[in-house]
Amino acid sequence: MNETHRGRLTREGIRIHETADFAGMHRAGALAAQILDEIAEYVFVGQTTAAIDKLIEDKVNASGAKSATIGYKGYQHASCISVNHVVCHGIPGDKVLKDGDILNVDVTVIVDGWFGDTSRMYVAGKLSRKSERLIQVTHDALMKGIEAVRPGATFGDIGHAIQSYVEAHRMSVVRDFCGHGLGRVFHSPPNVLHYGRAGSGPRLEEGMFFTIEPMVNLGRPETKVLADDWTAVTRDKSLSAQFEHSIGVTATGAEIFTLSPAGKFHPTWA
Ligand code: MF3
Ligand code: CO
Ligand code: CO
Repeated sequence: MNETHRGRLTREGIRIHETADFAGMHRAGALAAQILDEIAEYVFVGQTTAAIDKLIEDKVNASGAKSATIGYKGYQHASCISVNHVVCHGIPGDKVLKDGDILNVDVTVIVDGWFGDTSRMYVAGKLSRKSERLIQVTHDALMKGIEAVRPGATFGDIGHAIQSYVEAHRMSVVRDFCGHGLGRVFHSPPNVLHYGRAGSGPRLEEGMFFTIEPMVNLGRPETKVLADDWTAVTRDKSLSAQFEHSIGVTATGAEIFTLSPAGKFHPTWA
């Protein structure tokens, strides 16, 4: 058994990590979250998404960590930056942020072999009431999902908690992308769906590490991927938001690895 293959796998191929592994995930998660804290002041009207990505890449390198996304399936950037109706996997570029633009910035770092993956929402200029509502509901939906995490619950319970919360607010959950197991790998089983039936899916066990990263649309849930093969947008061009935490299942609930050191994860920090 080498370091990469510590712990055991469930029938569904989900890795059960050891207690000592939580510390590595906390270090990786904290760095990713700290970088998201530090870029907040660089999100403003007139800024380009490429400039924000460059800051992120520099911060990852300065910390001695590695970007998990540079070189991943040909992706060439240290972050995904998804503006307005972009659902996820927006490619940083020379697009200039306008007043009222909302954006998700998603960063994944590797620290001593452990992956920390987190994303949150930012605004350039003034936040409109409808964008604020979307961002708040998306954030709260992620937290509802995390509240459903404990040994013995199922992945369907997580999806159900998120979907029912979002739909009660007359918004929609994206089906085409999901959360994922992670640890010493970027993406591993299971697929963590952000919708579903209570009691369905694999059972949660202490030592599972995974992300929850709901994408919520003001309009319909359907998405399409643009010709660049990465950028996913809402088909109806409605606004979309996303928040992502990496978490571990403990004996009694969940530990969040990607908590913001500065308390800036929640959308009302500003
Ligand atoms: N961080 C994204 C996730 O939450 C994955 C980005 S892969 C990339 O899983 F190649 F697009 F960066
Ligand atoms: Co992820
Ligand atoms: Co991510």
